[in-house]
Amino acid sequence: MSTKLFAFTSLLALAASRPTISTRRAESSECWQTNPGTVFYSCSNGYKGCFYQDPCSLPPLSSTGPTPTTPPPTTSSETPVEIHELTKPRSFNIYVLSEAQHNVQDQVGHVDLNKPEGSAITTTNALVFDNVPAGAKNCKLNWRSTAPNDENNFTVKGSGQAYTRQLTGFPSKTEIVSYDGLKKYQDPSAEWSPSLDFTGWTEQPTSHGGPSLECGSQVALEIKGSDVGEGENRVFITLTETNGFYLTYEL
Ligand SMILES: *[C@@H]1O[C@H](CO)[C@@H](O)[C@H](O)[C@H]1NC(C)=O
Repeated sequence: MSTKLFAFTSLLALAASRPTISTRRAESSECWQTNPGTVFYSCSNGYKGCFYQDPCSLPPLSSTGPTPTTPPPTTSSETPVEIHELTKPRSFNIYVLSEAQHNVQDQVGHVDLNKPEGSAITTTNALVFDNVPAGAKNCKLNWRSTAPNDENNFTVKGSGQAYTRQLTGFPSKTEIVSYDGLKKYQDPSAEWSPSLDFTGWTEQPTSHGGPSLECGSQVALEIKGSDVGEGENRVFITLTETNGFYLTYEL
């Protein structure tokens, strides 16, 4: 037996000898979407699925008995974590291509990431969620699309890839929100995270998780579209209760 294979089989043995609690990411986020507050568990006692509480210490499911199709009732009095959402952030599109300093909040909040054909530069956007309650945890940016109407518009042309970077603060009401005005709130060591991909968006109501963000009374970030390629890249998303970006947090 080669050393490599030996190491691999010992790992398997190790894994098999302990109760397995696996919270795989994809399934975990699916749980969260279909049943907020739940987490995916796959236990050696047979429980597998979305549960509010760890079911792995429950008595094993009998292999001959009926297979439960619903999660077991939560037996403890512990209240599940509540997930809240904040919609309609203040949104500022930063049109670097024009010299104009952009400090007017748009009439209808929207995110417009625009790289015109032939250009190598994309507009960016600054979003801020205000009044995040004290004690909020696990802040996360999400987005969703819904059937288009007068208010809801979700348009993607060219690359649907976009990048995010959290800001350390946000210009006050008397400061200018612009390419230059944002500089003092940018963390120079923070990388742009390639965390948003709108290529698979649909007009069916769907929601998608984006990057995790540090919580604070204000949660602010920049979004930038892809500047790759010769063609037009455009992501235009209105921000309503049911369309566009929203923040989730736990309390
Ligand atoms: C949605 O926004 C895009 C980009 O601004 C625009 O071209 C399109 O006409 C809008 N769609 C509707 C239905 O208003």
